Amino acid sequence: MLQVRDIASRYGKVQVLWDVSIEVREAEIVALVGSNGAGKTTLLKTITGLLPPVSGSIEFLGRRIDGLPPHAIVELGISHIPEGGRVFPDMTVHENLEMGAYPPNAWKEKHKTFEQVYQLFPLLKERDGQLARTLSGGERQMLAMGRGLMSRPRLCLFDEPSYGLAPRVVAELFRIIRDLRSQGITILLIEQNVRHSLEIADRAYVLENGRVCLAGACDELLHSDYVRQAYLGL
Ligand SMILES: Nc1ncnc2c1ncn2[C@@H]1O[C@H](COP(=O)(O)OP(=O)(O)OP(=O)(O)O)[C@@H](O)[C@H]1O
Ligand SMILES: [Mg+2]
Repeated sequence: MLQVRDIASRYGKVQVLWDVSIEVREAEIVALVGSNGAGKTTLLKTITGLLPPVSGSIEFLGRRIDGLPPHAIVELGISHIPEGGRVFPDMTVHENLEMGAYPPNAWKEKHKTFEQVYQLFPLLKERDGQLARTLSGGERQMLAMGRGLMSRPRLCLFDEPSYGLAPRVVAELFRIIRDLRSQGITILLIEQNVRHSLEIADRAYVLENGRVCLAGACDELLHSDYVRQAYLGL
């Protein structure tokens, strides 16, 4: 579904990604793990067109998408749910969700999508008219996820959805991510908690200093000495 090949990305003169290649197949959950500053968020920004790569190629459903503007990439079916559950604070829950439905094809189906999102997050339905800035951290993350789904994506890129949330809320979000996959949405997930991400995902890539240093099936990675020592503290 998604083929990232030999990507290099930089902010101004500072190169942050080198020769990054990853692949996401349809209906997979793929995790991207690595320490702070490894380049995980940068890779998502590169995929979504916010930071066009300086070299390499990105294909989505057989089409080159590197070089396309972000809105065109959303319209092709990729939704990016950024770090920190960023939402529009002075808009209501409903208005925030509606903003996610801006691609023309999604707009036509927005009533149906609202129902689906409210079914997934009943809490958002209860808070429909509430200003986003009055939501709790967990509710805000749910809103960010809901807004990301309003564009009716085929592939969702989640950037640390569990950041700063209590274990009970994290468990709930992960349950929802699994639900999404069973509804046919493919997922690329950045997650700080390596153990959690290896448990929820099918495959994972480990990024270090802007390069992929390890990749494989999660059950294998969970048993690899390197991952156990470097990331699980075993
Ligand atoms: N807008 C920017 N301008 C300049 N440098 C940046 C910018 N954003 C990120 N960087 C640098 O790029 C590197 C990778 O950052 P990135 O945000 O991709 O890391 P990350 O793996 O997502 O880390 P974290 O786990 O802390 O979110 C870091 O060294 C960071 O300082
Ligand atoms: Mg990040």
